[in-house]
Amino acid sequence: MPELKQTLGYEYLQSTKFDRQSLFTLRKSQVDPAPLMKVYRDVPRISFPQEASSNRDLQGLLSKRRSRRDYSEHSIDLQDLGFLLWSCQGITEQRGRLYLRTAPSAGGLYPIETYLAVNKVNGISPGLYHLNVRDFVLEQLVEGDFSSNLEQACLGQKFMAQSAVSLIWSAVLRRNMAKYGHRGLRYIFMDAGHICQNLLLAVESLGLAGCPVAAFFDEELNSMFGLSGEEESVIYSAAVGISK
Ligand SMILES: Cc1cc2nc3c(=O)[nH]c(=O)nc-3n(C[C@H](O)[C@H](O)[C@H](O)COP(=O)(O)O)c2cc1C
Repeated sequence: MPELKQTLGYEYLQSTKFDRQSLFTLRKSQVDPAPLMKVYRDVPRISFPQEASSNRDLQGLLSKRRSRRDYSEHSIDLQDLGFLLWSCQGITEQRGRLYLRTAPSAGGLYPIETYLAVNKVNGISPGLYHLNVRDFVLEQLVEGDFSSNLEQACLGQKFMAQSAVSLIWSAVLRRNMAKYGHRGLRYIFMDAGHICQNLLLAVESLGLAGCPVAAFFDEELNSMFGLSGEEESVIYSAAVGISK
C-alpha cells in the first residue's frame, strides 16, 4: 500500500488545485469537446408509460431543483440549518462499529468533513463552524464576518458573500485512502456528490435556494478553516440562502 503522498489520488488532487497563478493555465483545456447527449440510431426504442410510478413529493423536488444564486438579505432559521446538515451527514443507524448516515459512503468510512461559513442564521453569530457529526452539534471555530474572504476564495463569485450560510466540504484523505489507496479519490468525490445532492434536495424541500460550488482557490479556503491541504483538503462547497 503506497503512503498517502505516493497515491495517484493525492498527486491528482494537488496537481489540479486552483491558485491565483495556475488558474488560467489549468483552465485552458486541450481536450476536444464531445456531443452533449448520446443517441443510438437504428435500434429498437422503448417508451415509458404515461403514469410512470413515482413518489410525487420526490418528483416535485427533483423537478424544481435548480442552482439558485439570488440570495436576499433574510436570515435562515437555525432549525432549518439543522435539517440541512442532518440531510447531509445525519447518523440514521448504528450497525456494529459503523454509524450509518443519510448519505452513502464507500466502505462506511465517511471521509468528508463539513465546515460552515455562517453569514445570516437566526440564533448564531456569523463565523466559521465545524459540524460535529457524532454529537450533531456545531463547533464554533471563529466568530466574525468572513463573507468577503469567502467570495475572494471562491474566485470572486459574489453570491457566496450574499449566502445565508455556505457549507464547505473537506476530505480527510487518509480516512479513505488507508483502505482504498490509489482508487480512493474516486470514492471521496462520489461521497461528496451524494452529500451535496442530499443538501440540494433538502434546500428545495424547505423552499430555500442553493448552489453547488467547486470553483475556488483550494489553499485559500483551506487556510480559512486551518486545514493543511495535505492530510485534509477542501473539495466541494455549496451556498444556501433565501431567494430574492
Ligand atoms: C461539481 C459542480 C461544480 C459547480 N460549481 C459551480 C460554481 O463554482 N459556481 C456556480 O455558480 N455554479 C456551480 N455549479 C452549478 C452548475 O453551474 C449547475 O449545476 C449547472 O449549470 C446546471 O444547472 P442546475 O443545477 O440549475 O440544474 C456547479 C455544479 C457542479 C455539479
